[in-house]
Amino acid sequence: MTFNHSIHYHHNTLHIDSIPVADIVREVGTPVYIYSLKRALENYERIKNAFADFDAHVHYSAKANANLAILRALIQAGAGIDAVSAGEIHRAITAGAKPENIVFAGVGKSPTEIAYAVSQNVGWFNVENVAELQYIQTAAEQYQREQINIALRLNPEVTASTHPYIATGHGGAKFGLTADVIGGILARQTDYPRLKFAGLHVHIGSQLGDTTATQTAVQKALDMIAPYPAIRTLNIGGGFPAAYQTGQTLPAVAEFAAALKPIVKDYTLLLEPGRSIIADAGILITQILYVKQQAAQTFYIVDASMTELVRPALYKATHEIVPVIGHEAEKNAAQIVGPVCETSDVLGRDVLLPTLQTGDLLAILTAGAYGMVMSSNYNARPRPAEVVVNPDGSTWQIVRQRETWDDLLRSELG
Ligand code: LLP
Repeated sequence: MTFNHSIHYHHNTLHIDSIPVADIVREVGTPVYIYSLKRALENYERIKNAFADFDAHVHYSAKANANLAILRALIQAGAGIDAVSAGEIHRAITAGAKPENIVFAGVGKSPTEIAYAVSQNVGWFNVENVAELQYIQTAAEQYQREQINIALRLNPEVTASTHPYIATGHGGAKFGLTADVIGGILARQTDYPRLKFAGLHVHIGSQLGDTTATQTAVQKALDMIAPYPAIRTLNIGGGFPAAYQTGQTLPAVAEFAAALKPIVKDYTLLLEPGRSIIADAGILITQILYVKQQAAQTFYIVDASMTELVRPALYKATHEIVPVIGHEAEKNAAQIVGPVCETSDVLGRDVLLPTLQTGDLLAILTAGAYGMVMSSNYNARPRPAEVVVNPDGSTWQIVRQRETWDDLLRSELG
């Protein structure tokens, strides 16, 4: 059985590229995130190739997974970075990003973050508040920067077909600016002599289920900028989906490119994909602690929880869960739950699995995006280790150590 080029069974044993997952677990323990850099780089190349007919630049959205090893691999392959906080800019620069290849987005950038980004010379600011412009102008004066690239973020009032928590382009969302407000800013550009209004940004949501809403939003953006010849760059955000179930049909990145090709002419495109690069490159491995038969159900109580992967609890997201050692045996529905004191601490409901025992390993698939970055220390749980399998497919290393109980005390003063 093969889930993708990098995650597959070989002799009934789950492998990531050519490494048996169980080999990594023997040395690193569980829970552990494991990422295939090969898969992440393939995903990046697929997106680049899909948009090869455009003047397009891919800025990996660090919010999906900001581990330095992943950032470094993508930056070395040519990716820019979409950062959503000063912390992410700092990470990106630490990982080797050139500041001019960083776009700084976010609905609530603080003046301190803006000053930091200006001091570092980041390439673009995606702006979502009128007052933000003055902060950028002030920082530009302070750091003597002449021309800071601004992409105003349009809220296109388009509802994406995705989970309501990750839709951002509808009128009621906090994101972006209305067309009226953008028109007003563009009419008063001279109020901000150090800002260069060179782009428009539009992002309608994540895990997009069709290309139509994107096409509509991009068309609105193009209509908006048509009267402004100085605006030559359109940032269309992220949102390309990843498959969370084997066989799920989703629009491919090439279909998004094909939907945009007839309408986008003579503009530079910036893309901010996150999930579509790293989601299916990552798995979370957990061990069964207890098997409990209760209320006519089988509960596998595992050592990972909502503190490692919050997506099922937060969005009712479904991740495929498979045994690390494959069994041919008959499968029954089981509940995969964590140790955290919350009823919502469920990683998988009614997952079809063979009969398993304490000590058996499970792999939670498509966990590379919005997994580790959303992890927490709730219940004083140390965060897990992270491992990458190198692009050669046959060597691996720990890229983040498992936290210790002492790590959890370190920043407290009491
Ligand atoms: N650009 C902007 C402006 C965004 O808001 C986002 C995601 C991206 C790019 C990257 O989107 P992607 O290509 O990864 O879909 N935690 C949620 C997803 C939140 C997405 C937030 N914004 C989840 O686990 O599904």
